[in-house]
Amino acid sequence: MTKPKLLIVDDDEDLRTQMKWALAQDYAVILAEDRTSAIEAARVEQPAVVTLDLGLPPHPQEVGEGFLALAELLEQDPLLKVIIVTGRGEKEHALRAIGHGAYDFLSKPVQVDELKVILRRAFYLSQLEREHRELQRRLGSESVDEMLGTSPQMRAVFAAIRKVATTDVPALIVGESGTGKELVARAIHRQGARKGGPFIAINCGAIPESLLESELFGHEKGAFTGAHIQRKGRIEAAQGGTLFLDEIGELSLPLQVKLLRFLQEYRIERVGGRQEIAVDTRVMAATNTDLKQAMKEGRFREDLYYRVSVVVIAVPPLRDREGDIVLLARTLLQRYAAENKKKILGFTAQALRALETHRWPGNVREMENRIKRAVIMAEDSRLMPKDLELAPLHARYEGQSLKDAREELERALIQQALARHRGNITKAAADLGVSRPTLYELMEKLGIGKEQM
Ligand SMILES: Nc1ncnc2c1ncn2[C@@H]1O[C@H](COP(=O)(O)OP(=O)(O)OP(=O)(O)O)[C@@H](O)[C@H]1O
Ligand SMILES: [Mg+2]
Repeated sequence: MTKPKLLIVDDDEDLRTQMKWALAQDYAVILAEDRTSAIEAARVEQPAVVTLDLGLPPHPQEVGEGFLALAELLEQDPLLKVIIVTGRGEKEHALRAIGHGAYDFLSKPVQVDELKVILRRAFYLSQLEREHRELQRRLGSESVDEMLGTSPQMRAVFAAIRKVATTDVPALIVGESGTGKELVARAIHRQGARKGGPFIAINCGAIPESLLESELFGHEKGAFTGAHIQRKGRIEAAQGGTLFLDEIGELSLPLQVKLLRFLQEYRIERVGGRQEIAVDTRVMAATNTDLKQAMKEGRFREDLYYRVSVVVIAVPPLRDREGDIVLLARTLLQRYAAENKKKILGFTAQALRALETHRWPGNVREMENRIKRAVIMAEDSRLMPKDLELAPLHARYEGQSLKDAREELERALIQQALARHRGNITKAAADLGVSRPTLYELMEKLGIGKEQM
């Protein structure tokens, strides 16, 4: 087996030789004595780990060259693990170097045992990261468009997208908010035979009921007060392409009837019109509400449900996608850091843990927002939990009585749940695992008004 490569950068020749002698059994040791030779050696040999003395010529008493070398090494290979070796009493430099992306630090005189432990761990981590990246690269070629994910859960979604794209049947995409339902619909459109046609999305929950009908079906001139000109609707606009009905669960019952008629004949009449117009389009719909429950309660028509749900694609919540949280976080971080021209290398270990344990009620959209904000706010080269506003839970409550902490947490969770469901008490109570009366009682006790939502 070939030995893993270690680059040792130090201007002290005795120390270089000593370290080489101590480590040659385990590593293929490469030596460099200044910044230029270090960068060149790293480029040619591609070591996984470097030990870097900050005091390099021409100014060995200062740390400027060392910091420059650190930046250039990481620019060349962002996965490189750089271990800083500092003189006595230079701890603040070492800490600053960590802030600039160094992996760890050691003080001189170097204790070989300690160095060996740090090295073993650095090489191990580096190998894991490189394997992970390789895996991403390979799996990435199986993913769909710009949708990221290597988890079995998302690979199942990608497979479904590819299969559904080859057909023309209506598809229903279900999943919590922010999971990527619209992205799935667009991917199906782009991979299918209608990709040359338009993709027309309409959010049934965002348009006032009184306008939605003419928005969908269009209207003739003079059909109602204010209809000064003839207007084509969104369904007609989707001619030859795809019509995406977002939040279909929000459609009123009368409009459900009209939509059903369209889905039976693929013909529409504009509001106030006489003539039937044939529309050749593929229909997809999405919902984050439970349509089966809505059917039971008489809020959603069964016949319409069966029309739109010939195939159903369920997009899993982010918290259930094994391994995807970190993958998404890293990719989004790179994207936003580049957009904002900020040098951010990654996350601290604490931040990674916080990302993985957070529940992500807002799914991928929430992650986009947190990382966007963190990139703008961050002052160091690695994002911390506080940048992501994911501080450890108990830290927020330190020094408070249990009663106050409990109430604050209850208030926050209830407000979140109400906001998520736009003030819908039944749905909020279901999320919180309490009955409606209990939720009302809690709101009263904590002084939360529904109107606050
Ligand atoms: N797998 C993914 N990879 C990369 N980006 C994603 C992924 N899934 C979602 N996103 C991004 O997350 C955001 C939310 O996605 P999208 O709008 O498709 O979600 P949605 O399920 O339609 O949400 P809502 O229910 O709130 O309408 C978008 O900016 C989208 O680009
Ligand atoms: Mg959406």
